[in-house]
Amino acid sequence: MHVYLNGRVVPAKEASVSVYDHGFLYGDGIYETMRVYDGVVFKLDEHLRRLYRSASLIGLTVPCDADRLKIAIYETLIANAFRNAYVRMTVSRGRGAIGLDPDFCPEPTVVVMCQELKEYPAEYYKNGIRVIIAETKRNLREAIDPRIKSLNFLNNILAKIEAKKKEAHEAIMLNVNKKLAEGTISNIFFCKDGILFTPSVACGILDGITRGLVIELAKREGIQVKEGRFTKEDLYSGEEVFVTNTTMEVMPVSAVDSITYSVRQFARLLRKLYRREVDAYISNIKAEGPSLWGLEE
Ligand code: PDD
Repeated sequence: MHVYLNGRVVPAKEASVSVYDHGFLYGDGIYETMRVYDGVVFKLDEHLRRLYRSASLIGLTVPCDADRLKIAIYETLIANAFRNAYVRMTVSRGRGAIGLDPDFCPEPTVVVMCQELKEYPAEYYKNGIRVIIAETKRNLREAIDPRIKSLNFLNNILAKIEAKKKEAHEAIMLNVNKKLAEGTISNIFFCKDGILFTPSVACGILDGITRGLVIELAKREGIQVKEGRFTKEDLYSGEEVFVTNTTMEVMPVSAVDSITYSVRQFARLLRKLYRREVDAYISNIKAEGPSLWGLEE
């Protein structure tokens, strides 16, 4: 296994980060998770745009431009000979003396790791996954804005622990105003009377790239989409529920707490349209001529 670390692709066992790194000491940094289909990173520009936005929101300067990051990602994928994979890009504040001051850290740490894709079981897509509403509330937007995809993931981990205790796959967090926010690693949707509902970004969520595409695909299909403020009772009264993220794509939900759902038609349709979009994207990138993807030749 090979890892990109600060400008070089090295064997994973040589890729060490200092114990003084503020990413390790304080969770001070940001990251992105991307998915690679047949050697092409899906929505790479969108992920990098969000990475730079997260960095800017914590006053962190990513030490290289997007083109360099793209090369780093593809170099890592090629070194590992992965064609279907996850990519995780992390930028931490870097190494510095103990203490919160970011100025202690002159150089951010940049890491790209990838892992061969292990698909979720087909059974999950067929029958749906169980989720719970967590007691843990989503971070307050005014405290740590969930739009920052930060290394500080304890909020989500606490909710995940709740889910595990109840043998559920995902925990949906409410915000402090008791409105639906999002899952620990996903966005949530529900359907009722032919309308698709999802919490608005103003509820304090990460504006998922999958969420954005699913909304666009639904609208293109003539489905009405309402982004707004909803309660857990709204979710309970939905006819169908699903969650979205880069790795799961569109995942149907079979139960929220003790409420069960048997309908999966929206999830099925949107996953099909999503896959079609992925295929078109991959062919376009491959047809683009000299591109980063061509590094492999
Ligand atoms: N998580 N909300 C949260 C809190 C997330 O961490 C994620 C993604 C999403 C969905 O975003 P997207 O559609 O852009 O993947 C929503 C990734 C998969 C992760 O943490 O690895």
